[in-house]
Amino acid sequence: MDSMLERNGKKVCVMGLGYIGLPTAAILASRGYDVHGVDVRADVVETINRGEIHIHEPRLAELVKEVVDGGNLHASIEPCEADVFFICVPTPSNSDKSPDLSYVRAASEAIRPYVRRGNIIILESTSPPKTTEETVVPLAVANEFEVGRDVFVAYCPERVLPGRILIEAVENDRIVGGITPACTQHVQQFYETFVTGNVLATTAITAEITKLTENAFRDVNIAFANELSMLADHLGADAFEIIELANRHPRVNILNPGPGVGGHCISVDPWFLAHAAPNQTPLIRAARQVNDHKPHFLVQKIERLVADYRISVVGCLGLAYKADVDDLRESPSLEIVRELKSRLNAEILVCDPYVSPDKFREFSLCPLDEIVQRSELLVLLTDHSQFMTLSSKQLSNKLLIDARGEWHSQDLTAAAQRDVPLATPAASERHAA
Ligand SMILES: NC(=O)c1ccc[n+]([C@@H]2O[C@H](COP(=O)([O-])OP(=O)(O)OC[C@H]3O[C@@H](n4cnc5c(N)ncnc54)[C@H](O)[C@@H]3O)[C@@H](O)[C@H]2O)c1
Repeated sequence: MDSMLERNGKKVCVMGLGYIGLPTAAILASRGYDVHGVDVRADVVETINRGEIHIHEPRLAELVKEVVDGGNLHASIEPCEADVFFICVPTPSNSDKSPDLSYVRAASEAIRPYVRRGNIIILESTSPPKTTEETVVPLAVANEFEVGRDVFVAYCPERVLPGRILIEAVENDRIVGGITPACTQHVQQFYETFVTGNVLATTAITAEITKLTENAFRDVNIAFANELSMLADHLGADAFEIIELANRHPRVNILNPGPGVGGHCISVDPWFLAHAAPNQTPLIRAARQVNDHKPHFLVQKIERLVADYRISVVGCLGLAYKADVDDLRESPSLEIVRELKSRLNAEILVCDPYVSPDKFREFSLCPLDEIVQRSELLVLLTDHSQFMTLSSKQLSNKLLIDARGEWHSQDLTAAAQRDVPLATPAASERHAA
C-alpha cells in the first residue's frame, strides 16, 4: 500500500451498484479494500449480499461471489463512514434533453453526514461541465471543511465498454480532474493502487468536458455516415460502396451507417455539452438530430417496400441497441419496430436472442427459424452474431434490408450471384426485385 493509503485507510463507500458501481466495488474489494456498496434498490442490495448479481457482465458474478464470501464487499441502502467515496449513480437527461442531476444530488446529500477530514470523494457518473464543483462539493462537503485541504474531491470519468468492464476498468487510461491540484494528486495516487493504465491528471472541468467530448465525437462521426446513407439513397447510390471506396483515401475513415444511435451514453451525453453551451454547439446538436432521424427514415423505407411489393410479413432482426447485448436503452432498433407495428398493415415479427421474453412484455418475440421461414421482407436492425451466420439458402427469395451493412459487406457479391434480392437502405430500388 502506498503512503496515501496508509494516511487515508482502506474503507471505500460506492454509491450506486449498477454497471459501473458494482464492477468498481468488486475490483476494489478484490484488491483488499473494505468496500461498502450502497444502492437505493433494496432488491439490488439483497442480491449482492447473497453473493449474486442483477446485471449481465462477463466474470462479474464470480468476482462478486468471491469478494462477498471473503467479507470484502457488503451492500446496504445506507452509506457509512469511509476513506474514499465513489458516486456512480445514473445521469439521464430530461424529456427536454436537459441533464437530470437528481441522482447525483441525492447521492451527494446522502454521503454528507459521513464525510470526515482527510476523505476523498470521486464522481464517476458522466456529468455536465461544473457538476463536481457546483453540485457535488456544496452538497457532499460540510461547510467546516475546505476542499483541497480537508477533503479531496475529483471527477474521474468511466470509459468502459459493456462486456469488457472488469478488464477496461483496470487497464484503460484514466483521467483524474481534481477541484484543486491537491485533490488531483490524492485521487491520482488512489487510482494508481488498482489501475494499470496511465492515470492522467487535470482539472475537474477539463475531465468533465473530455468525457462528453469522447461521446460527442463518436456521435458526430456516426451522424456523418448516417447523413451520407440518406443522401446516397436520395440520389439512388449505394452508401456502403461509397464509404468503402472513399476509405481507400489514405486520410479518410468514414464509419458505417446504422439504424440510428442508441444506448444511454452516446445518444444522451452530447446533449450535456449542447445544454451547457447552446450557442457554441450547432454541430453537436445537428449530429444528434441526424442520428435521431435515422430510425424514421428507415421506417419510411420499409413502408415503401411493403407497399410496392405487397408484403404481408416483415421480419425484424434485433431489438438491442448494439450487437450481442440485451440492452434496450434508447435503442433505435426498438424504436423502428414500435413505429412499424403502429404504422404498417403487414404482420411484424421480431426476434432478439438476447432479450428475455420473461423481462420484455411489450410484444411477443419470435424464434429466429420461424421469422426467417415466414418473412417476405427481412430487416437486419441489430448485428447480433446469430444473424451473421444465416445461410444464403435461408435468405433466398426474400427482400432484405440491411441497416448495419453487415450482410452487405459479407454477402453483396455472393447475394447478387445467388439472386438474393438485397435491398440495403441505400440501394433497395436497384436490388430489390
Ligand atoms: N454503463 C456504462 O457502460 C457506462 C460507461 C461510462 C459511463 N457511465 C456512466 O456511469 C453512471 C452510472 O451508470 P450505470 O450504467 O452504472 O447505471 P445503472 O443504472 O446501471 O446503475 C446505477 C445504480 O445507481 C442506483 N442509484 C440511484 N440513485 C442512487 C442513490 N441516490 N444512491 C445510491 N444508489 C443510487 C440505481 O438504483 C442503480 O442500481 C452514469 O452516469 C453513466 O452515464 C456508464
